[in-house]
Amino acid sequence: MNIQQLQSQIDSSFPLQIRYFPRLASTNTTATRLAKEGVSGWTVVVADEQTAGRGRHRRNWVSPAGLGLWFSIILRPTISAQKTNLINLSTAVIISNFLEQRVKEEFPDLCIDVKWPNDILIAGKKLCGILLESGIKGNNLEFVVIGIGMNVNQTVTQFSAHIKKFATSLQIATGKEWSLEDLLGEFLVYYFGEIENTLQNNFEGIISAYQSRMIYKNREIEIDFKNRKERGIVEGIDTSGYLKLKTDAGINIITAGDVWGIKKGKWS
Ligand code: BTN
Repeated sequence: MNIQQLQSQIDSSFPLQIRYFPRLASTNTTATRLAKEGVSGWTVVVADEQTAGRGRHRRNWVSPAGLGLWFSIILRPTISAQKTNLINLSTAVIISNFLEQRVKEEFPDLCIDVKWPNDILIAGKKLCGILLESGIKGNNLEFVVIGIGMNVNQTVTQFSAHIKKFATSLQIATGKEWSLEDLLGEFLVYYFGEIENTLQNNFEGIISAYQSRMIYKNREIEIDFKNRKERGIVEGIDTSGYLKLKTDAGINIITAGDVWGIKKGKWS
């Protein structure tokens, strides 16, 4: 990545500190270590390639050099630890709004959705994932590391047979190559403004903004939750961001899991 080109997208008045590495095991692991060592909020760890990129539920996150954005943002908001999950939801909303503006202006037919809890889908396939890790002091958040992985310039053949069923990239969705530096620079400036606003407004409006982006709202899904499968209709999310699933037994609140849509008896 051309770091000068990236920096040129970011006005010097922004308090962003970029720490760039050609190769890391995981930007989240490095960012968490730096946060524990006391680096300031708005430090962003970026790598061209991750050799041990991490996803949710201890999965691997494939992060080859030059094909995507793999980065972690350290924030130090003064909020209670209970609200950490709202940062997760807000980040999903902000990324999808960013893509809406940045991609849809040229490609108006593309559909951008969020799959609970925090997958960003484009044309129904996963483009981007978020992995949040935090440090807590007493009841408060000491720091949060927001790890974002976005598939940008992969072609279909560059995904493994398993991944290509579920994943996509901006290039696959739009048919053109994207500049990683420009995209990341523009995103960081946008994210900075939006998340600062969201924090200042105590997350007001986030639940409804999230729900309006949610794929499968009012539709039947199956979810792997606590080692068993639950089926039901997605009602939305509660004020903590947990999934409200309407089942025969009533409303079930789901705190974690992988959601699969059901279409005519088949997974979609
Ligand atoms: C998921 O959807 O499972 C979350 C994927 C998060 C991947 C990003 S890539 C940058 C950061 N560093 C990591 O090791 N993981 C996150």
